[in-house]
Amino acid sequence: MRKLIVANWKENPATEKAAAKLFHEVAKMKRTHADVVVCPPFVYLEEVTTAYRAMRASARKNFAIGAQDAFWEETGAFTSEVGPGMIKSLGARYVIIGHSERRKYLEETDLMINKKISLALKDGLRVILCVGESVTIRKRGFAAAKKFVSEQLRKDLRHIKKPVIVAYEPVWAIGTGKNDTPEDAAAMAKFIKSRNAKRISCVLYGGSVNSRDAGDYVQYKEIGGALVGGASLRALEFKKIISTNYGKS
Ligand code: PGA
Repeated sequence: MRKLIVANWKENPATEKAAAKLFHEVAKMKRTHADVVVCPPFVYLEEVTTAYRAMRASARKNFAIGAQDAFWEETGAFTSEVGPGMIKSLGARYVIIGHSERRKYLEETDLMINKKISLALKDGLRVILCVGESVTIRKRGFAAAKKFVSEQLRKDLRHIKKPVIVAYEPVWAIGTGKNDTPEDAAAMAKFIKSRNAKRISCVLYGGSVNSRDAGDYVQYKEIGGALVGGASLRALEFKKIISTNYGKS
């Protein structure tokens, strides 16, 4: 099975020029073993999708653009929000929803996330739903983490029929350099999939993934790929991650 590697640029890089440079570097990387999705900030989405559309069809193979969020209304008096239809109209195909940084800093709730997923799917975007437990919960043990994640999925996927991609990202592992053990990550991925087999197309792992440890996670058949933050901003590092053969599982 081919793996899916998603680059979440978050609020980076600092200028349009730097974003264009990074995109062009990623665009020319070989994607022999993995499908690659690049998710730039909204302000660079037009620049990136325009460059993407200008590429030859063969060069766009196994490559797509995504957004880092989408609102639950298409249009209207919702200052600064961006609807999934707008994102789709630029040529982006994926959207990350429910990232823990949005849950934490913007106080996004499961209800908001559920509404966002619903509209994004209706518009034909592929949704990457992020779930994961905090350190406080994890300290109570793996069973507590499973229970928390299961509850997030129940609320976030309420009434959702179409399949989504789930990114399991333990909150304590994001941007901290701390990693979950590959065994636990695979066990959680298996658990997530087993609970919602029909509505989850695959489970990615995320949280401080880099070129040295990506293989430890992605080699597992339960793990469909990785959601990469910090390491996706360094072209060489990202190239190593996407060009690794993670096995045939
Ligand atoms: P990180 O971010 O790789 O920098 O930890 C991953 C994510 O938050 O998606």
